Amino acid sequence: MGWNTWNKYNCQISEDIIKSNADEIVNLGLDKLGYVYVNIDDCWQIKDRDAQNHVQYDKTKFPNGMKAIGDYLHSKNLKFGIYSSAGTMTCQQRAGSLDFETIDAADYYAWGVDYLKYDNCYNQGRKAVERYTKMRDALLAQPKQIYYSICNWGEEDTWKWAKDIGNSWRTTGDISNSWSSMRVNYLQSSQHPEIAGPGGWNDPDMLEIGNGGMSLVEEKSHFALWAFVKSPLILGCDLTKLSTDQIAIISNQNIIKLNQDSLGQQAKCVQGCNGNIEVYQAYHNDLGGYYGLLVVNWSDWFSQSIEIDFLVAGVTNKANDTCKLVDLWTGQVIGTFTSKYYASGIAIHDHL
Ligand code: DGJ
Repeated sequence: MGWNTWNKYNCQISEDIIKSNADEIVNLGLDKLGYVYVNIDDCWQIKDRDAQNHVQYDKTKFPNGMKAIGDYLHSKNLKFGIYSSAGTMTCQQRAGSLDFETIDAADYYAWGVDYLKYDNCYNQGRKAVERYTKMRDALLAQPKQIYYSICNWGEEDTWKWAKDIGNSWRTTGDISNSWSSMRVNYLQSSQHPEIAGPGGWNDPDMLEIGNGGMSLVEEKSHFALWAFVKSPLILGCDLTKLSTDQIAIISNQNIIKLNQDSLGQQAKCVQGCNGNIEVYQAYHNDLGGYYGLLVVNWSDWFSQSIEIDFLVAGVTNKANDTCKLVDLWTGQVIGTFTSKYYASGIAIHDHL
């Protein structure tokens, strides 16, 4: 859980932007909820390496260098994330790390880096497994653990190899600031729930909450969906501009607990799959053990209803079993139901 520059700022980043968002994490108490990584995406570097082959940071953006950023974040008990590409250049044509993994990983360690997002641009057509393994080994050679976020956009059957190499792996192309893009990324990331678990997660890309492209209902569904697929929860907005309602969404303790559950089971579709209204289910170990059910209305035109059959949804293995349903957002008991629950009138792009 954390925050990243890309979705909101693209290349318009600076030391001040990093610091003001880090300060806001602490002001809003988001760090206490688990949002601890502060990640700088593309454009912190310049194109050319120095005479000793070290990547050079962009002094116009970061006049005090990268270690100063790491020190600042650590002084606030936050963690420092940085970005590079497993190619000759980053996507924005700054110096990439391909064949310079050892030098770069050592520099990251010296700057206090805790997290690396490793992109896929300008990869020279070399195999992902080879390129991502080289950086993994360079990171593992450092004296402290550095979270390794693979960003290869779901290419080369990521789900077959990434778990042995990274802590999370992008399953999709870039999210953009809209419901339709969020939906595409979610559905694509739902394809291989079986490979997710503690230590390695499917990553449908960063959150767009607070960037203005979705209604509040859609932002709430976006957060619930990311939580249920056990995605990393990386915020991507200007945190100083969030409304009270948006802060309430990203701070909901029950939804965060579900996302961070110790079993780490990614939700899978159990009813209505590929239709306008889908039901997702996952078992959770924490809070005494419970099944999470998420009903989402994908329709752009109509409210939707669905009868959840507890046997079909896999939350019981006995007919006529009784289940107590609780709304996780509010903690309120919805009621106790036998065999089935009729989820009725879910509004367009809303969820239950
Ligand atoms: C492509 C990645 O998928 C994005 O998340 C972002 O890191 C950009 N590259 C940066 O150029």
